[in-house]
Amino acid sequence: MADLEVAKLRSETPGCAEVVHFNNAGASLPPSIVVDTVVSYLVEEARVGGYELADRRREDLAAVYRSVAGIIGSHEDEIALVDNATRAWDMAFYSIPLGEGDRVLTTTSEYAANFIAYLQVARRTGAHIEVVPDTPTGEIDVDALERMLDDRVRLISINHVPTNGGLVNPAAAVGRIAQDAGIPYLLDACQSVGQIPIDVDEIGCDLLSATSRKYLRGPRGVGFLYVRDTIIESLEPIMLDLHGARWVARDEYEVRRDAKRFETWESSPALRLGLAAACDYALDVGPGAAWDRIASLAAILRAALARIPGVTVHDKGAVKGGIVTFSVAGREASAVQDYLQQRRINVSTSSVYSARIDMQERGLDEVVRASVHYFNTEDELDRLVNTVAQLARH
Ligand SMILES: Cc1ncc(COP(=O)(O)O)c(C=O)c1O
Repeated sequence: MADLEVAKLRSETPGCAEVVHFNNAGASLPPSIVVDTVVSYLVEEARVGGYELADRRREDLAAVYRSVAGIIGSHEDEIALVDNATRAWDMAFYSIPLGEGDRVLTTTSEYAANFIAYLQVARRTGAHIEVVPDTPTGEIDVDALERMLDDRVRLISINHVPTNGGLVNPAAAVGRIAQDAGIPYLLDACQSVGQIPIDVDEIGCDLLSATSRKYLRGPRGVGFLYVRDTIIESLEPIMLDLHGARWVARDEYEVRRDAKRFETWESSPALRLGLAAACDYALDVGPGAAWDRIASLAAILRAALARIPGVTVHDKGAVKGGIVTFSVAGREASAVQDYLQQRRINVSTSSVYSARIDMQERGLDEVVRASVHYFNTEDELDRLVNTVAQLARH
């Protein structure tokens, strides 16, 4: 990506003039088109009425599904729009029938919300949650996964990119194993959509959950679930309402045939349109170019941080993405975050409470998380590195 384009992308992002933003794995800075789309819809809603405007904008709202499908290479009928990535993932996971002795295979870096759901369902049903070992470089070991398969495995459920580091799991290699064995495959792509080019057919997942506000740069409060068309009708959502199903007789209901069966009737049209604007924008920028720049900026940052005495970089993975994690000797992660924030540099932290198995295995309680996006510059990397070095010297 040429410098000129980065300058243009930054000029389209008002937040770039305010802060140095390395919290794109938390919530990124949206481009103006996203903010304008959301705000103008809300203003219009207040003027003419919520239901009335939704009616008038029916076609634009239907087109949201095409925009979202476009970002992951799916069909629009395979998309459900929901509140966030966790609810998307929950709707998929809790809807999969599991019983005593059934097995779910997952990975060491699984997000806490997912693992809590595994534990709850295991407690209720007697299903077993099993963690596939990692390779020496830290990603899920696909050979070990293959060896663990038997006819009691009901689900393979992993993350593409974890919450707490640069790791990129081999999602497509896992997909080939899942497809060969005919086992449903749920991919938590919350941190990868918008960061890494995604094609659900190349990956071979049956279910994929994601959010709007992170690498996609959309608004907060909206996310989506992809459900492969071949399995939609075999999955009855754990919860239904009058949008996911129709009450057709006193004691009868019919579940709708598309992925919208996983949605609720009430939603925010403004946020959905903002999500669509973010997807269209991401496609315009170019997912491949975005990924190349994110990965190379993050590699520069890791190398520069690792050169600072007292700083340890923690990322694992043969392939590493935009999430850079580190610690500063003698400083709590939150103190590093505060120090940087006072200088208008945004980072976040990850603790053992967000990815317990991985953090415990590595003896880590917490790390500082600096997540880069394509609109970050090398000057911004220098500012971060110099400020961390200053703190490390004190
Ligand atoms: C890997 C991963 N999965 C899922 C989530 C949950 O996303 P949300 O907060 O939109 O529910 C996160 C959030 O940080 C995450 O990092």
